Amino acid sequence: MNKSRRKLITAGLGLGALATIAALRPGDRGASHNRYFMNLSRALDEAGLSKPTLVIDRQLMRNNITALTGFMQGRFDYRIVGKSLPSVPLLEEVMQQSGSRRLMMFHQPFLNLVARRLPHAEVLLGKPMPVRAAANFYQQWSAQSGFAPERQLQWLIDSEERLLQYQRLVADLKTPVNVNIELDVGFHRGGVQSDAELGRMLTLIEQDAGLNLSGFMGYEPHVAKLPGDKLAWRDQAMAIYEQRLQAAEATLGRSVRQLTLNGAGSPTYRYYDRGDFPLNELAAGSCLVKPSDFDSPVLAEHQPAAFIATPVLKSLSRTELPGPSGVSKAMALWNPNRQQTFYTYGGYWKAIPWSPQGLSINPLFGRSSNQEMYNGSRSVNLAPDDWMFFRPTQSESVFLQFGDIAVYEDGDIVGSWPVFSA
Ligand SMILES: Cc1ncc(COP(=O)(O)O)c(C=O)c1O
Repeated sequence: MNKSRRKLITAGLGLGALATIAALRPGDRGASHNRYFMNLSRALDEAGLSKPTLVIDRQLMRNNITALTGFMQGRFDYRIVGKSLPSVPLLEEVMQQSGSRRLMMFHQPFLNLVARRLPHAEVLLGKPMPVRAAANFYQQWSAQSGFAPERQLQWLIDSEERLLQYQRLVADLKTPVNVNIELDVGFHRGGVQSDAELGRMLTLIEQDAGLNLSGFMGYEPHVAKLPGDKLAWRDQAMAIYEQRLQAAEATLGRSVRQLTLNGAGSPTYRYYDRGDFPLNELAAGSCLVKPSDFDSPVLAEHQPAAFIATPVLKSLSRTELPGPSGVSKAMALWNPNRQQTFYTYGGYWKAIPWSPQGLSINPLFGRSSNQEMYNGSRSVNLAPDDWMFFRPTQSESVFLQFGDIAVYEDGDIVGSWPVFSA
């Protein structure tokens, strides 16, 4: 090969490498707030808010409730998952619009709160409670509240051992207790796994005048998570559910179909659109505010309705990390989305940055729940005291971290909903 030919090939290879590197370089993902978040920012300012705040868009949530109740269409009763909507006025709103009094609760202090503040509710526990927690519920419950546990409360029982514990509690309480039996329908988080155990539990309940069988629960979120045909996983779960109900009917010598037959959750409720299922009620909560963990094609009709709003404390036109300045410069040179820096009031929540677009954590600087660093390109236009918005990844723990929820409707903050507190 002659010299000039070799030079040409080398140059060609060099150019190719440069083109590949240029193609790998991240593009500018930044933008300003869109009109929705500009309006929300203005509303927060006008309401005089100045700290990290959980905002619920009331209309968007109402649309989500309509999507859910429209789906149920009288085919199923709806049970509201209380842990995912942890605020009394928030639950009241959902109860009122959905027409459901059925709640699912997961924490003893919140159960007492609901019994006090929503005494017309009908409650099913979403997880088996230590019998001591059940005893504490009765100790803290007051008959004057109007909430009657013997009519309005179902304890979830996952095993024979726990049933025996509750049987001893009933003997002390001298008030009847409703028992809903947790079935393992394939999730394997616990619950009854055999007809034999179920039969023994039902016999125990039948023989004790203080225990009343009120239903069954078979939660099946794995249906949405497992690879493969979701409907096949659903059918498998429902076949187990049906089998246990038939076994229960054989033991009891009567139908159980009028009892509470609970199942589903936000990720799976949409799979019960066509066909006959043993369930007569579906539970869901998160999909009404749609945190980012619930972004899935089956929930396409639901819109995100909850955001964390937090003030920007500092806005810097460059990114400056401690140590050699070359590192920050190189980062910004390579990735335009590292050109600017914003520090937020608080941070490190279970949440993803949402607006303005294109903001991200600096991986070298790390996380902070005090002042968190976010980087963005020059297309991001944020000054100190502007608002930055996040989407919670889940609602249950995140909603409890900000004090009262700010309720946004028609361009204004129209209310303030206290969250559950023990
Ligand atoms: C027993 C049970 N049912 C239903 C749900 C669904 O709740 P969500 O609709 O908020 O996902 C859960 C969530 O953990 C659960 O544990």
